[in-house]
Amino acid sequence: MSKPFDVIVIGAGPGGYIAAIRAAQLGMNVACIDEWKNEAGGPAPGGTCTNVGCIPSKALLQSSEHFDHANHHFAEHGITTTGVKMDIAKMLARKDTVVKQNNDGILYLFKKNKVSFFHGRGAFASKSDAGYEVKVTGTTEESLVAKHIIIATGSNARALPGTPFDEVNILSNDGALRLGAVPKKLVLIGSGVIGLEMGSVWRRLGSDVTILEGLPTFLGAVDEQIAKEAKKAFDKQGLKIELGVKVGEIVNSKKGVTVNYTNAKGEAMVLDADKLIISIGRVANTLGLHPDAVGLQLDERGAIVVDAECKTNLPGVWAVGDVVRGPMLAHKAEEEGVAVAERIAGQHGHVNFNTIPWVIYTSPEIAWVGRTEQQLKADGVAYKAGTFPFLANGRARALGDTTGMVKFLADATTDEILGVHMVGPQVSELISEAVVAMEFKASAEDIARICHAHPSLSEATKEAALAVDKRTLNF
Ligand code: FAD
Ligand code: NAI
Repeated sequence: MSKPFDVIVIGAGPGGYIAAIRAAQLGMNVACIDEWKNEAGGPAPGGTCTNVGCIPSKALLQSSEHFDHANHHFAEHGITTTGVKMDIAKMLARKDTVVKQNNDGILYLFKKNKVSFFHGRGAFASKSDAGYEVKVTGTTEESLVAKHIIIATGSNARALPGTPFDEVNILSNDGALRLGAVPKKLVLIGSGVIGLEMGSVWRRLGSDVTILEGLPTFLGAVDEQIAKEAKKAFDKQGLKIELGVKVGEIVNSKKGVTVNYTNAKGEAMVLDADKLIISIGRVANTLGLHPDAVGLQLDERGAIVVDAECKTNLPGVWAVGDVVRGPMLAHKAEEEGVAVAERIAGQHGHVNFNTIPWVIYTSPEIAWVGRTEQQLKADGVAYKAGTFPFLANGRARALGDTTGMVKFLADATTDEILGVHMVGPQVSELISEAVVAMEFKASAEDIARICHAHPSLSEATKEAALAVDKRTLNF
C-alpha cells in the first residue's frame, strides 16, 4: 500500500524544500524526497545550492578574500602582516561546516513544519485514481502516492563533448570546490558566473588563472558599461580572460591537462594546466525520475516543459527551478516553489520574472535587475540613464574600495525605473533596494527623494537616481 500525501515534492534543493515548507504551512500533508548524501551517507538536503553551489562557493570566496586583503590591503590601514599563510584543509573544513549547518537547518525546518522527509531517489511508477505513485529507492524504500507532485530535481554541470569530468584534473563545480591544494596553473573554460567566481577564489589563493571564453563579448547578458568596468578590474587583478576562443583537443594525463584552442585571431594555442574547470553552463536533471512512466513531457534539451505557472503537461504535476526554463538561480527556484504551493492551495501565487535580481560574487561584485541599456535600445524604448561612481562615495573611500558604479535606466517619459546595474563593493546587498523599487513601479525620482543613511554605499544608489535627472549632489 502506498503512503498517501496531499503533495509529494521530488528534490530538496531551494525549489523543492521551500515548496514543501510553504505547502505544509498552507495545511497540506507533504512528503519531500531527496537523494543527496553527505560523506557519511546521511541526508544532505539543500541541493546543488547548499552542497556544491551558492553556499560553499560563497564560503570560499569569503576565505580567499580575507587572504587577499591580509596580503594586499591591510598595509594601507597600517597593519603589518608577515608570513600570511593559507591552510587549504582548514578553509575547506570551514566550508564543509557551513554546508552542514545549512543541511541540518533544512532537516530542522522539515520537522518544525511537519514535512515527511524521505532520503532516496524518487521515480514515477504509475498513475491511478488515487494520484501519482512515486517509488523511493536508496536509503529509504517506500511507495508514496499523491494527487499533486512538485518536481524540483535541479540541474547538473554541462560537460564538453568528449571530455568527461574526472573531478581530479577535469573539474565541474563539485571538484572546483574541493581542490586540496592551490593549482599552480588553472584553466577555466567559460567566463560566465562560475568561471568568474571560481577563477577569483583560486587566483586570490595564488593560482595563475586563465579563463577561455567562446563568445567574443565579455558577460554579454550584463549591461555593457558595467561589464566593461568589471573587466578592467579583473584585468588589474591578473585574471587572464581570453574571449572569442574555440576550444579544441583536451589531453588529460597524470601530469595535468593540456588545452588546445584557437584564439580570436585564429592562431593555434596550447595551454598546460594543473587543473581544468569546465564552467560552460548547466543542464536540467531528470535522471532516474522515470518521466516516461506517466508521460511527462520534456523539451529537446531535457528540461521539463511547463507553462508560465509551472504546470507540466500532466494535471497535478508541477515543476520548478533549474529543471524548467528560465534563469538557473536559487531565488528563482524558491519563488516558483512558493507560487506553486500557493496555486495548489487555490491561491494566486505569482513570480515576477522582470524583477529577479542577478549577482556575481566577484570582487568587485556585479548585480543587476531589469533591462540593460543594450536591451532597451533593441526594444526601441526611450530611456534616460544616470550613473554614479563609488569613487565619489564617502563610505567606499573609507572602506578602501572605490571601484565601480551604480547605473539607473528610467523611462524617458514616465521616469519609471526599467533597470538598475551595479558593479562595486557589496552591491549584492544594494541591489535589493532596486528590486523593491521596481516591484512597486517606482520612478527614479522616488529613490532620489528617499533619505539614505550617511555614510553608506546606498547613497551611491540615491545619487545614481539623481543622475537620471542630471542633478547629482556629490559628483
Ligand atoms: P537543485 O539545487 O539542483 O536541487 C535538486 C535536488 O534534487 C538535489 O538535491 C538532487 O539530489 C535532488 N534530486 C534530483 N533528482 C532526484 C530524484 N529523482 N529523487 C530524489 N532527489 C532527486 N544561484 C544563486 O541564486 N546564487 C548563487 O550564488 C549561486 N551560486 C552557484 C554556484 C555554483 C558553483 C553553482 C553550480 C550554482 C550556483 N547557483 C547559484 C545556482 C543554484 O545552485 C541553482 O539555481 C539552484 O540550486 C537550483 O535549485 P533547484 O531546487 O532547482 O535544484
Ligand atoms: P554560464 O551560463 O553563466 O556561463 C557559461 C559560459 O561559458 C558562457 O559565457 C558561455 O559563452 C561559455 N561557453 C559555453 N560553451 C563554451 C565552449 N565550448 N567554449 C568556451 N566557452 C563556452 O554558466 P556557468 O558559469 O557554468 O554557471 C551555470 C549557472 O549556474 C549560471 O548560469 C547561473 O545560473 C548559476 N550560477 C549562479 C551564480 C550566482 O548567482 N552568483 C554563481 C554560479 C552559478
